[in-house]
Amino acid sequence: MFSPVIFLLFFLLSCVFCDTKLMEVYGKVIGTAQGTPSASNCHIDCYYNSTCFLVYKDSEGVCIQYSYLDNPKNLSVVAANDGSQVYFKATLPNDTCPATLNSLNLTYTPTNYFSYTWKPIANGWAFPGCANGWHLSVRSENLTVCIKGFYQTVYRSAAIKTCTDRSSVLIGVQSVEESQWMREEIGNLTNKSYAPFWIDGVRNCTGIEPGCRRFDWSDGLTTGDPLLPEESASLSVTDKSQRLENCLVVTVTGLNDVACSNAQKRMFCGYKLN
Ligand SMILES: *[C@@H]1O[C@H](CO)[C@@H](O)[C@H](O)[C@H]1NC(C)=O
Ligand SMILES: *[C@@H]1O[C@H](CO)[C@@H](O)[C@H](O)[C@H]1NC(C)=O
Ligand SMILES: *[C@@H]1O[C@H](CO)[C@@H](O)[C@H](O)[C@H]1NC(C)=O
Ligand SMILES: *[C@@H]1O[C@H](CO)[C@@H](O)[C@H](O)[C@H]1NC(C)=O
Ligand SMILES: *[C@@H]1O[C@H](CO)[C@@H](O)[C@H](O)[C@H]1NC(C)=O
Ligand SMILES: *[C@@H]1O[C@H](CO)[C@@H](O)[C@H](O)[C@H]1NC(C)=O
Ligand SMILES: *[C@@H]1O[C@H](CO)[C@@H](O)[C@H](O)[C@H]1NC(C)=O
Ligand SMILES: *[C@@H]1O[C@H](CO)[C@@H](O)[C@H](O)[C@H]1NC(C)=O
Repeated sequence: MFSPVIFLLFFLLSCVFCDTKLMEVYGKVIGTAQGTPSASNCHIDCYYNSTCFLVYKDSEGVCIQYSYLDNPKNLSVVAANDGSQVYFKATLPNDTCPATLNSLNLTYTPTNYFSYTWKPIANGWAFPGCANGWHLSVRSENLTVCIKGFYQTVYRSAAIKTCTDRSSVLIGVQSVEESQWMREEIGNLTNKSYAPFWIDGVRNCTGIEPGCRRFDWSDGLTTGDPLLPEESASLSVTDKSQRLENCLVVTVTGLNDVACSNAQKRMFCGYKLN
C-alpha cells in the first residue's frame, strides 16, 4: 500500500466545496485514458472545478487534469516513489481528516446525478468507470457503455430530455444479455407486472415490407438488430385499435413495440466510456 505520508488538502477560502477533499498521495496515474496537460499548480484549479476529479503531477512537475465528463474507463492510481504526486477528490463530511485512506470509501459526488467510488486495489485505487448505480456493458472491443433505469418521465420526448439532462442518451439494446439485464433491473425497480421503459429504436420500414422488424437507432451507441434473436420480443406493429406501434420499450417480459405517442413513466439512459 501507499506510504503513510498522505495529505488531505483543505482550501478554506470558499465553503462552497466544504465537503470536497483533495487527497494527495505519492503515486502515479496509469491507464489508457487521456488527461489534459495544465499549468503547474493545476491541482488548485482542479479543486475549484467540479468536473475535474483527478490530477497527476509527474516528477518533472508536468500537471495533468482528468475530467469525469470524459468518462474515462481505464484509470488507476498506484504508489510511486519518484516524487510524482496524485490528487484525487472525495466527498467527506466537513470536518473530517482521516489519518489513512486505506479504510475510507473514497466517493466523489460532483452532481446530484453522479457519484464515483474508487475501488481499492493491491497498490492503490482503480476508477470504477461507470458512475455508481450505472451498469457497465462491453458492447465491442471499442465500445463500452454505462446504462441505468430511471423512473420519471411521461412522453418519449421527455424521456430523451431526462437522459440528456443526465449527460446521457436514451439508449437502445445491443444484445440479448443487455435486454436480460434490463428486465432484471426493471424487476428490481418496480413491482408492477407491466412496467414499460422507453429505450431507443424507431421502426423504419422505408423501402422494405411494411411491418418489418428493422429499427433505426439514434443514440449513436447501438447498431445492428438485436431484436431478432430475442424470442420474447413482442413486435405486433399495431395495437388493438390499429394504431402504429413504431417505438420500443422493454418490460419485465421482454421487448415490446408501442405507439410513439404513448405515455410511459420510465426509461433507460446510457453513455459511452472512453
Ligand atoms: C488499462 O490500463 C493498463 C495500464 O496502462 C493496461 O495495462 C491495460 O491493458 C488497460 N486495459 C484496457 C482494457 O485498455
Ligand atoms: C473545468 O475543467 C475543464 C477541463 O477539465 C474545462 O474544460 C472547463 O472549462 C473548466 N471549468 C472552469 C469553470 O474552469
Ligand atoms: C458542510 O458545510 C456547508 C457550509 O456550512 C453546509 O452547507 C453543508 O451542508 C455541510 N455538509 C455536511 C455534510 O455537513
Ligand atoms: C463503504 O460503503 C459501503 C456501501 O455504501 C458500506 O457498506 C461500507 O460499510 C463502507 N465502508 C466504510 C469503511 O465506510
Ligand atoms: C478498435 O479500435 C482500434 C484502434 O482504433 C482499431 O484498430 C480496431 O480495428 C477497432 N476494432 C473494431 C472492432 O472496430
Ligand atoms: C437486483 O437486485 C438483486 C438483489 O439486490 C441484485 O443482486 C441484482 O444485482 C439486481 N439486479 C440488477 C439488474 O440490478
Ligand atoms: C416491492 O414490493 C415489496 C413487498 O411488497 C416491497 O417491500 C418493495 O419495497 C417494493 N419495491 C418497489 C420498488 O416498489
Ligand atoms: C429509414 O431507412 C432508410 C433506408 O435505410 C433511410 O434512408 C432513412 O433515412 C430512414 N429514415 C429515418 C427517419 O431515419
